[in-house]
Amino acid sequence: LIHLLSTEGLPKAIIHQILDTAEQFLSVNDREVKKVPLLRGKSVFNLFFENSTRTRTTFEIAAKRLSADVINLDIARSSASKGESLLDTIANLSAMAADMFVVRHAESGAPYLIAQHVAPHVHVVNAGDGRHAHPTQALLDMYTIRHYKKDFTNLTVAIVGDIVHSRVARSNIHALTTLGVPEVRVVGPRTLVPGDLREMGVRVCHSMEEGIKDADVVIMLRLQNERMNGGMLPSSGEFFKEFGLTEAKLALAKPDAIVMHPGPINRGVEIDSAVADGKQSVILPQVTFGIAVRMAVMSILAGNEA
Ligand code: CP
Repeated sequence: LIHLLSTEGLPKAIIHQILDTAEQFLSVNDREVKKVPLLRGKSVFNLFFENSTRTRTTFEIAAKRLSADVINLDIARSSASKGESLLDTIANLSAMAADMFVVRHAESGAPYLIAQHVAPHVHVVNAGDGRHAHPTQALLDMYTIRHYKKDFTNLTVAIVGDIVHSRVARSNIHALTTLGVPEVRVVGPRTLVPGDLREMGVRVCHSMEEGIKDADVVIMLRLQNERMNGGMLPSSGEFFKEFGLTEAKLALAKPDAIVMHPGPINRGVEIDSAVADGKQSVILPQVTFGIAVRMAVMSILAGNEA
């Protein structure tokens, strides 16, 4: 593995290697991550052309815990604002001896373009590209599911909400099916769930009654207003009524079901505060696990030179 661009086609053995490595970085209380020298002398450039709280920060923490030098390019104040192209930006940062680029971009495929143009020893990690992929989110989601449910091969996982705009949904579907989850459901209104997902082997549901009944894992997604191009369909009020996760709707799932969300959450739109902050929510542990999973990804990539 030289770059991590997608979970599509990522072999099961590599996913498990990443999850096992992440587990080693976590101490017994799942909170403290040890500092290790695996990336000492390496420079990791965080390039976030789209906003982020969790991904950018946990990549920075992860790189620092691996003893790397971390450079966060402030894109809004960079020469990208003067019209410098993406590839010219990369060429100039490469001239500063970058070893790894962590890239988030609104354009699907931008991290692929970068990966095609960097020197063979440089690694690219996709931190979310358009609607396409968010592989490290999917991997931390897989870590979370494995942590709480142990075995993937007897699970029903429901992914609920704005599927059509969601890179997290796509990356999770690829990872879940590779890991052998027998029932993956996508749940939402017809306007937000593309029918072609059936070809990816998932069950498409247009009601919460069908979608989360007896689920072991419920992954809620944010309504992505910024990708709606004008009017939101349905309105956030209508969405909450039909698909917002309340305690009453969660009661349809198994009693020990876990509730996940990649964040940021829209309280009262896709999830009620009573659920987001409730006993079944593992939304904040997901964030914590994200540090160890990103440490695992970067250390495995750094150990694999082209
Ligand atoms: N889950 C996620 O990608 O969150 P951020 O946009 O805050 O990084």
